[in-house]
Amino acid sequence: MIPAEIIEEIRNKADIVKVVSEYVKIKKRGKNYLGSCPFHSEKDPSFTVSPDKQIFHCFGCQEGGNVFAFLMKIENIGFAEAVAELGTRLGIAVPQVSGSGASKTLRDKLYQIAELAAKFFEDNLKGPAGNTARTYLQHRAIEFKTVKQFRLGLAPEGWDNLFKYLVSRGADPKLIEKCGLVLAREGKNGYYDRFRNRLIFPICDPRGRVVAFGGRGLGNEEPKYLNSPDTPIYHKGSTLFGLDLSRDAIKRAGSAIMVEGNFDLVTPFQAGFTNIVASMGTALTDQQCKLLSRYCDTVILAFDADSAGGLAAERSTELFRSHGLKVKVAQLSGGKDPDEIINKAGKDAFGKMISDSLPYLEFRVRRALSRHDLKEIESRSRALKEIAKVLAAEKDEFTVREYAKLAAQALGTDPDTVQAEVKRLGQYAGAKGFKSLSRVTAKPNSKVVEAEKNLIALIARNKEGLALFQQYLTLDDFSATEARTIIELLQTAKLGQSQEPAHFLLENLPDEAARKYLSALLVRENLSQTEQFEVIFADCVKVLKDEKKRQRVADLKAEIKTAEKSQDAARASELLSLLQTEIS
Ligand code: CTP
Ligand code: MN
Repeated sequence: MIPAEIIEEIRNKADIVKVVSEYVKIKKRGKNYLGSCPFHSEKDPSFTVSPDKQIFHCFGCQEGGNVFAFLMKIENIGFAEAVAELGTRLGIAVPQVSGSGASKTLRDKLYQIAELAAKFFEDNLKGPAGNTARTYLQHRAIEFKTVKQFRLGLAPEGWDNLFKYLVSRGADPKLIEKCGLVLAREGKNGYYDRFRNRLIFPICDPRGRVVAFGGRGLGNEEPKYLNSPDTPIYHKGSTLFGLDLSRDAIKRAGSAIMVEGNFDLVTPFQAGFTNIVASMGTALTDQQCKLLSRYCDTVILAFDADSAGGLAAERSTELFRSHGLKVKVAQLSGGKDPDEIINKAGKDAFGKMISDSLPYLEFRVRRALSRHDLKEIESRSRALKEIAKVLAAEKDEFTVREYAKLAAQALGTDPDTVQAEVKRLGQYAGAKGFKSLSRVTAKPNSKVVEAEKNLIALIARNKEGLALFQQYLTLDDFSATEARTIIELLQTAKLGQSQEPAHFLLENLPDEAARKYLSALLVRENLSQTEQFEVIFADCVKVLKDEKKRQRVADLKAEIKTAEKSQDAARASELLSLLQTEIS
């Protein structure tokens, strides 16, 4: 266990706004900060951070808590790890949780092995074995500075150089295999290296920890690129190559250039296009979009100039938009991919293609036009339908009208014809959309629910609240399960002198529902600052007590009815007198 004083020191020194900002773009709105939630996809920001209370809460997915909960969730780590991580960032020493390295988590060990491997590859590229690879890099115009920055390396020839090296440094063969670096020999004992005689690109997580590798053949061997498999520390579908080096530039620019290949990232980066990430040739995933949307609001697609690249751009456009990202598409020419374009046409030409990139609607309209033979009437009709479908999804009337003009010109017709088709498809889509809308029933705005929330907020926010609670209320006065969980924890807890109940609760509540309930009302409430603290407290207590009374009266009345029905006069009169004392 980490000593409570250290946890408290770290919590007090940490600024949740600063920590969250490393992962999420948030803007000041009144007292709080607001941004797009990193834990679910949304178009309208509902992720709220309160600097006063040092708490976050998302009103979309209900996720919430304090700075530790945020780190746990976003880094997928445990409480102790989150405390240690934040301690390191703040320069506060945190004693090792259970002493020796033997108790390190599996993930920690894999990070360590991946880091050792990266170092091994780097050294090999620098050494005598790296001659050919260094020449190869020279041919591709990669400078020494870039090699260092990206930690490029070489997997040497031979079957088990890396394996032997890692074992000599104390790594467990089973874990080296888990890390994706070696494969078990078929039918025999032992392992052999996955990467042999390849140029190595380490793949890092956004924090810069090496998690996987991509290896390019130095000649024409197949496959051209060989990549690490998914491992406990690497999930291809939720990783973007280069993000560790580009995230600050992406945040500054508000946009990210997205490319397909490894060199398509490294070469532009070297040329100064540092707000760039690569998908590494795979189909874009939800997680990748979400990851990127934490850092910027616009993506500029710079996919290969071939038809596959165009298709990939078209497909990923929709996915990006569903995550609230604006999409632009660069029209590449003068080479087949960004790497080639920079080397052949130069960085200024590439820069112009980026700044001239098309808004996604224009891209879609132009692609539809280019797919059809506009000399034929039937083809023009098909092109019109395709374009109308694209435009029907757009809400802004002016935009639709302008694109209708553009399309009409290319199709040799008038804008009204295009608009009419858009409208027809739009009505259809609209009707369909309406039916599938599930109506959310509003929660009963019960006074009791609100009173319970207010009381929990007051109790959680200061010690006087807690004292008043102990004086006037009991667990049974509360009906919401979450509120009861919170009260139960408070009743059994031994709070230290300086401990604020809110953070103690957020860190110790046994269930997620209760934590979310609490973070929601803490972010919202501003009762505890008011002078009328005790008045509000008393009002809420009255609401709960009245409700309890109303329930008891109703119960008694029902019981009296039953007694009368069964002609139990004695019981009925007994209940009646109880009812009278209750009402008076
Ligand atoms: N890729 C891969 N496995 C392959 C082929 C490609 O993982 N067998 C990924 C690599 O990240 C590669 C990207 O897909 O960079 C794009 O592939 P491609 O366009 O074929 O290669 P280039 O990036 O142009 O490779 P290079 O410039 O090194 O020739
Ligand atoms: Mn290429």
